[in-house]
Amino acid sequence: MDTKTRITREGIRLYEPADFAGMHKAGRLAAEILDRIIPMVEPGVTTGELDQAIEDMVNEAGATSATIGYKGYEHASCISINHVVCHGIPSDKKLKDGDILNIDVTVIVDGWYGDTSRMFVAGKLNRKAERLIDVTHEALMRGIEAAKPGNTFGDIGFAIQSFVEKNRMAVVRDFCGHGLGQVFHAPPNVLHYGRPGTGPVLQEGMFFTIEPMVNLGRPETKVLADDWTAVTRDKSLSAQFEHSIGITADGNEIFTLSPAGKFHPTYA
Ligand code: MF3
Ligand code: CO
Ligand code: CO
Repeated sequence: MDTKTRITREGIRLYEPADFAGMHKAGRLAAEILDRIIPMVEPGVTTGELDQAIEDMVNEAGATSATIGYKGYEHASCISINHVVCHGIPSDKKLKDGDILNIDVTVIVDGWYGDTSRMFVAGKLNRKAERLIDVTHEALMRGIEAAKPGNTFGDIGFAIQSFVEKNRMAVVRDFCGHGLGQVFHAPPNVLHYGRPGTGPVLQEGMFFTIEPMVNLGRPETKVLADDWTAVTRDKSLSAQFEHSIGITADGNEIFTLSPAGKFHPTYA
């Protein structure tokens, strides 16, 4: 039997308790693919080779890449190195020792979307980059802690922005998280900055991503001539982590937890 689709006045779909299982499965596959790519991330490998391995893993699992064919994008991942903020295009560029990179994968399993990204390091991680990665990861987790019924999207943005700025880093304003579920990108825009108590109220059954991008320098970005690659205007280093979550009666479920416990590159 079909239950009626519920949508808030802000256009945000409220999914049913039974829908969490579909998101869990899709999110888990996306996270598992990122776990399995870890040993390949070494100086000398190209981002195109990493992307091909990801595409193979998606196919092997009988899933579909959400990004291949999306608005003309042709790859199974976005790979964003150093001062690239997001939407880096896999290529024949080789990783160098000390490069930090975000790999972002979105898969479709039985119609459900799992979207996650995390940071990786090629070779040796330097102190500055490590601090950026730590702050960005903690910013995401603080945003997720604020994601519960009765709080607002502004509470999530505030939790992220206040933590990042306390650490003298900058939150990117030009890109945001998004609703997802049986579609890739849906309302609301999930801003990674904001004021407490503002924006739509969170309700059980909302599915969305939180995916803060944090810069060591200024927050401004620009998109390169390829129409995808976003970089920091001041060439400063940038990091990002992304989870897909669902709001439950008393908090949230993270759909994209790392099965291997390796979401953060320097944690065991
Ligand atoms: N996965 C990205 C996100 O977090 C979107 C990538 S779209 C692509 O929303 F076309 F660039 F792959
Ligand atoms: Co996303
Ligand atoms: Co993503």
